[in-house]
Amino acid sequence: MTEKTLMLIKPDGVQRAKVGEIIQRIENKGYQIINMKMVTPTRALLDLHYAEHVDKPYYPALVDYMTSGPVVVMIGEGTNIVAGWRTLMGETNPTKAAPGTIRGDLGREWPQEAMMNVVHGSDSIVSAQREISLWFN
Ligand code: CDP
Ligand code: MG
Repeated sequence: MTEKTLMLIKPDGVQRAKVGEIIQRIENKGYQIINMKMVTPTRALLDLHYAEHVDKPYYPALVDYMTSGPVVVMIGEGTNIVAGWRTLMGETNPTKAAPGTIRGDLGREWPQEAMMNVVHGSDSIVSAQREISLWFN
């Protein structure tokens, strides 16, 4: 089934000049990027995007991280792309993410409290629809 998902290149990915490599990985995989822009997220947008995290102890550090600079915001399209993009990204903690994944190859842990892990992907079709309408209005 053809799906859409929300993909972000987070501020560390942009600052470390990994935009080209990440887009190349998406395109090499065969997924289509059907919309793309750069924005520096606001706290208000992040409170909605990360609604299930706002009460977590790491949330203030996550907001500092995500507002530290521009992100690349993309809508990806393809068969089973929601799960497929999460496989390409690798697991949340970049120390544990497998080599070959974006987080495993391009990410590492840093002294900051927030887990800086280069990319974001929606975790379900329902989340994807919600996140796409939040970021593209
Ligand atoms: O991004 P993903 O869906 O893999 O992970 P999540 O559990 O939904 O967490 C969202 C984001 O919060 C992560 O990608 C991290 O950037 C951040 N986070 C963090 O800073 N510290 C944690 N202990 C867990 C998540
Ligand atoms: Mg998540």
